[in-house]
Amino acid sequence: MRSLWREGEQIKMIDQRLLPQKLEIFTASNEQDVAYAIKEMVVRGAPAIGSAAAYGVAIASDPKKAAELLKATRPTAHDLFYAISIILNAIEHGEDAVKAADKYAEEIVEKCRKIGEHGEKLIKHGYRILTHCNAGALATLDYGTALAPIRMAKDKDIFVWVDETRPRLQGLLTAWELEQEGIEHAVIADNAAGYFMEKGMVDMVIVGADRIALNYDVANKIGTYEKAVVAKENGIPFYVAAPLTTFDKSIEDGSKIEIEERDAKEVYGIYPRKFRARNPAFDITPAKYITGIITEEGIIELDE
Ligand code: MRU
Repeated sequence: MRSLWREGEQIKMIDQRLLPQKLEIFTASNEQDVAYAIKEMVVRGAPAIGSAAAYGVAIASDPKKAAELLKATRPTAHDLFYAISIILNAIEHGEDAVKAADKYAEEIVEKCRKIGEHGEKLIKHGYRILTHCNAGALATLDYGTALAPIRMAKDKDIFVWVDETRPRLQGLLTAWELEQEGIEHAVIADNAAGYFMEKGMVDMVIVGADRIALNYDVANKIGTYEKAVVAKENGIPFYVAAPLTTFDKSIEDGSKIEIEERDAKEVYGIYPRKFRARNPAFDITPAKYITGIITEEGIIELDE
């Protein structure tokens, strides 16, 4: 089962807000529904929201207007903007927009499969791998980015440390996927990652990405930066896995990437009463902390 697919003119998606408690399908019948699904995180993860937006434009009666609506949903993931431009371009060239969106979705899955093949080679027998957020099949339709190499290395007796990823707890989505794959794992509080790294209990880190600048600075889920700094301090390889659709060559470095700030209630929602809160959804990991970026075309080595 994929996390998002088309049935006629309807776009179906696993409602990721309800997981891991409930597996329910959300149906989007028009671009407004798709925009709602992206904004409210029914669908999330850069490649998955890219595919959702591609379909949102494709099923709209006014694709240009739909493109503007969809672009205003979430600012950070490059895939969203890239996917929209691909479909608008296909329409301009007289192609069938829905078929172009189908092709886009199929290609994303294939890119992730290849990321898995390249990344799997980095994983040695018995490795304990730490990941942050959910960069699995849910976030990409199938395989995942960070989770693709992990899936493909599952016979190597591996173990995965899963950062719970406050405030939205995407780590539980990762745990849900790993459970189904039969891969040993443990969810940890975000604050515990450094503890396990310092104790020599983490052999490598693999995370996904939302946007990668020209100089290879990476925007990813809030907390990624801290993990990268602590990994470097402890001599632990830190890899980013992402398709080339996440690379934004128009952005020179990470400081120019727009960081989404979400509603503070996602943070204070679990408090006994309302306090003031801030809720940046992403942070920037400078390229100097990244060992390499695993793409569908191979690994970009960054650590000199
Ligand atoms: O806010 P989210 O859940 O959409 O953020 C997702 C992430 O940060 C992922 O790590 C990233 O999109 C890569 S998904 C393959």
